[in-house]
Amino acid sequence: MKNYLSPSILSADFAHLGEDIRHVEAAGTPYLHYDVMDGMFVPSISFGMPVLESVRRITDMVLDVHLMIEDPDRYIDEFVRCGADIITVHYEACRDVEKTLRMIKDKGIKAGVTIKPGTPNSVLVNVLDKADMILLMTVEPGFGGQSYIPGSTEKIRELRRMLDERGLQTDIEVDGGIKKSNLQTVLDAGANVIVAGSAIFKGDIEQNAKDFMELLREKQ
Ligand code: DX5
Ligand code: ZN
Repeated sequence: MKNYLSPSILSADFAHLGEDIRHVEAAGTPYLHYDVMDGMFVPSISFGMPVLESVRRITDMVLDVHLMIEDPDRYIDEFVRCGADIITVHYEACRDVEKTLRMIKDKGIKAGVTIKPGTPNSVLVNVLDKADMILLMTVEPGFGGQSYIPGSTEKIRELRRMLDERGLQTDIEVDGGIKKSNLQTVLDAGANVIVAGSAIFKGDIEQNAKDFMELLREKQ
């Protein structure tokens, strides 16, 4: 499967967000990960529709929107209007996750579903063939800069097995605590869409993104 890097702008400096995005773009990064937090589903609040609209105006990268919000159905239309290319919702935050995935796809964009570290893969059995991407949180959602939860590796492996058994080539995205040092581990386990926030946006952004891209190409 093809590997993709999705830098999370949660760790960017919002005083010069446009510039930070230019750096990852210059490294040839295909996706941009956009973390929306509502202060309810997760304790923190990040950014929402207006910022997405501005980001959309300055880039053609695939905007990979991760909604950490309660009852996301309320905002699907708006995030699509503001430029999302993929919307991923939390299984734990949806009343009827199949309906939510349908709502997203009916808008003509890709739909993803995600689970927190403590939620087992088994809850996804009925939606495996209905999602374009499955995001496994490898930290508790809510903050950037946390450490990768080691038990996630087995969870990635199990999910890839579940998809293989059904003949599905669905993308597995991983999010939280991914660094150059553990990239190989998550790829070997079966992940192919890699979110990285602090590992990209702290220090030399373009160089960090290039290093990740290089490693991803080698492992292709
Ligand atoms: C956490 C967010 C992540 C976060 C990852 O709730 O979903 O996307 O930005 O940041 P790092 O890579 O620093 O763990
Ligand atoms: Zn995220």
